[in-house]
Amino acid sequence: LEDPLPTISQAHTRQVLDQAAQILRSGQVVGMPTETVYGLASNALDSAAAQRIFRAKNRPQDNPLIVHVSSLKMLRSMLKDNEIPEVYNDLIKTYWPGPLTLLFPRSSLIPNDITCGQATVAVRFPSHPITRALITACNLPLAAPSANSSGKPSPTLASHVMDDLAGKIPMVIDGGQCSFGIESTVVDGLRVPPAILRPGGVTYEQIRLVKGMESVQVYKKHFTDIAMEQAPTTPGMKYRHYSPEAEVVLVEYIRPSTSKQEQENGGATTAQYSVIKNEIKRMREEGKSRFGILRTSFNNSCASTASTSGPLNGISSNSIYCTSDPSVIEFPLGQGSKPEDVARELFRGLRYLDSQKVDCIFVEGISEEDEGLAVMNRIRKAASRTIA
Ligand code: TXA
Ligand code: MG
Repeated sequence: LEDPLPTISQAHTRQVLDQAAQILRSGQVVGMPTETVYGLASNALDSAAAQRIFRAKNRPQDNPLIVHVSSLKMLRSMLKDNEIPEVYNDLIKTYWPGPLTLLFPRSSLIPNDITCGQATVAVRFPSHPITRALITACNLPLAAPSANSSGKPSPTLASHVMDDLAGKIPMVIDGGQCSFGIESTVVDGLRVPPAILRPGGVTYEQIRLVKGMESVQVYKKHFTDIAMEQAPTTPGMKYRHYSPEAEVVLVEYIRPSTSKQEQENGGATTAQYSVIKNEIKRMREEGKSRFGILRTSFNNSCASTASTSGPLNGISSNSIYCTSDPSVIEFPLGQGSKPEDVARELFRGLRYLDSQKVDCIFVEGISEEDEGLAVMNRIRKAASRTIA
């Protein structure tokens, strides 16, 4: 169970938003919640303000920022000839506001510090009410990358932003846990055929149903850095990402067996879990002693051994343990069959297990369908090796 959010009066929210808007208008940065992950915002029309983002995050200078708007009017005012390319009409109608970022030809209004030499600018119209109210309160488009230190898992709680950036930024607005938990989908509709440069909150399956997007390309499994360098893609994807201190090992998804006998014998031990147990045994022989598992392969017999106390108590509403071994910490990401649950908890789980000072974090992979594609993309980028 989680504590209910404290009741916040509208007047209080207004006061916080006004204060944040004032900080942003003065050229400083503010941490803000969005429906995907927390962002580190600054005035998108001011290059000195953009530089403050790069400094606070220690972000590579060639990785461009996404610009956030709260209306199509604001978007048009930033574009060449104030025109939204027709190819985006149906995507915008269907998925904005929401976790979808689109590339537009860059106009001279957008400083090069935001676009980092690209001919395009990436723009998102977020759905989170606080993000929208903040942009409206400043009456400025806001540049915002994820509000983590570069290379760390993206923040899905205000406390994650504080863990990375306290002392480096003047303010974070606490909007609770981000509802999606993984960054937006980045779509380039200016190229033919259009391409998904980064999978995210709006899925490939959803995008290709939209008029004009039938032939949209996506790089699926084993989306590696080499593949990226060969295909022009989104600059930020080439960096090692989402990496905690511990070694991260991806345990490839294994389709659950439909054989009755295996199900009966399997009990709490799914195929992925068996692979992990063997690897833990091997690593113990190498002298490693503490392990974390981000679990997606729970089944009912596992849940029946659930405990509600222990290190996860109060951390996750669905804390479940299959093991009583205190040197193995399990963090439930939800059932693999529900990729949206996994998406919401993934970065929090990586950060939590890292705080537990484990030597190695095993992440149980899921199927790459729907939101699973974005989830697996982030896990592959965090992992230094894969076992199956
Ligand atoms: O959900 C999100 O998109 C979050 C929230 C805060 O809105 N933001 C976010 O920003 O994830 P960031 O900076 O962590 O990721 C931006 C991604 C990077 O991979 C970057 O390379 C790509 O978007 N990008 C930005 N501008 C681009 C451009 N003009 N062309 C291609 N890729 C671009
Ligand atoms: Mg990021």
